Amino acid sequence: MKRRIGIVGCGVIGSQLARSIQEEFAKKAKLVALCDLEEEKARQLSRRFSISPSICSINELIGKSDLIIESASANIAAEVAEECLKRGRDVLIMSSGGLFGREDILELAEQKNSHLYIPSGALAGLDGAKAAGLGKIFSVVLISRKPPRGLEGAPYILENKIDLFKIKEETTIFEGDVQQAEKAFPRNINIAAGISLALGSCDMTVRIITSPQFKTNSHQLILKGEFGELTVETNNLPSPDNPKTSYLAALSAVATLKDILGYVQVGT
Ligand SMILES: NC(=O)c1ccc[n+]([C@@H]2O[C@H](COP(=O)([O-])OP(=O)(O)OC[C@H]3O[C@@H](n4cnc5c(N)ncnc54)[C@H](O)[C@@H]3O)[C@@H](O)[C@H]2O)c1
Repeated sequence: MKRRIGIVGCGVIGSQLARSIQEEFAKKAKLVALCDLEEEKARQLSRRFSISPSICSINELIGKSDLIIESASANIAAEVAEECLKRGRDVLIMSSGGLFGREDILELAEQKNSHLYIPSGALAGLDGAKAAGLGKIFSVVLISRKPPRGLEGAPYILENKIDLFKIKEETTIFEGDVQQAEKAFPRNINIAAGISLALGSCDMTVRIITSPQFKTNSHQLILKGEFGELTVETNNLPSPDNPKTSYLAALSAVATLKDILGYVQVGT
């Protein structure tokens, strides 16, 4: 039987997943429902396919689907995950930052015998981090390098009246723990949330560096523990459809879906 899939959030990642379901995974899955705050985006996506997924509310979408994909916003990630799991549905969450501090949702998946999938997103190395987290971890540092325009509008930049476009050379804009980073740069927190979830709870130092010379977003994960040391750097190019989304994030969602629908799983 084909897995019935519903997608909440029809932007870059949702559209990439919808295309993959229709083109690569059509033998194993069927796109049955779409939902977006801007209904026209769901309609536009639906028009691309020969089948017509329902365009409906989140509540109705959960009712129609076996697997729900959230690719919308951190504001609704926890609520969507909770509702899906309560109703015995599997759920894939892209806005992992929205699950910060909600360990109860991880427990709910087990209680309800349903699956919660969290793709690696725009950062490589979570395979190693997951394995390393089974032993003792001594330190975790996440260094994100972004061009100034990638930090525009963040609460920390506004509150501290930082003029990003006056910065002429490589500058550390922020260093703090993960809770401080969540408040200061909420849009950039998916990566840190992914690491936290892979390791189980951990103390992490988050450093954000900017420079007008940076052309891409890059993330460096430095992990020390009983296993030894790990340093992974990911230099992300933007998605062809939207410069704000790293292409790797969209591809990582498709790779997770491939694992869910397939029989062979490679990597930790
Ligand atoms: N884990 C990672 O590394 C990673 C990387 C990139 C993006 N993300 C997250 O994935 C999500 C999707 O990213 P994207 O690049 O596709 O974004 P996008 O802006 O291209 O698309 C998001 C879509 O969701 C819709 N939406 C927003 N709030 C909604 C709501 N309450 N209900 C229904 N629809 C809603 C928007 O109208 C938009 O069409 C974002 O939350 C983003 O932060 C995670």
